[in-house]
Amino acid sequence: MQLKFTVNGIACEEEIAPDTLLLDLLRSLGFLSVKQGCDTTNCGLCTVWLDGRPVLSCAMLAARAQDSEVTTIEGLEKEAAAFGEYIAAQGADQCGYCSPGLVMNVLAMERELDNPGTEEIKHYLAGNLCRCTGYAGQLRAIENYLGEKAGRTKGGQS
Ligand code: FES
Ligand code: FES
Repeated sequence: MQLKFTVNGIACEEEIAPDTLLLDLLRSLGFLSVKQGCDTTNCGLCTVWLDGRPVLSCAMLAARAQDSEVTTIEGLEKEAAAFGEYIAAQGADQCGYCSPGLVMNVLAMERELDNPGTEEIKHYLAGNLCRCTGYAGQLRAIENYLGEKAGRTKGGQS
């Protein structure tokens, strides 16, 4: 079947098998930040945005992206790098294998939730697993990042 969609704002047209997973399609197109870390839809490593909403690309047929906008971390390079500095400042970068999925969810949370508290952050990111178990450092980095962004927004409004 013929699939028309955009990835990071670039129009794509691909011939795909009906059972192609979005994860496999994106990787075949060179978006190697999108990774598979489990077979059970539990790890969040494969997270991308579909029309601005985070989805697990390992559990989604590529066909569902028809006429949609897919975003990977390659399309959010500057924002991802800015957040990455907060992760590094907490020594929470570790192996980094889980980072693309985590970053996609943190940046989605930033857009979706207004000044979330610690429990809200934990709840939003419950589907992101890190084998290096760096959760405390990651959480501090996320709180610092969101806190500073909120501060900048307030500063901009005053
Ligand atoms: S690879 Fe998709 S949730 Fe683990
Ligand atoms: S930093 Fe290694 S899996 Fe998370």
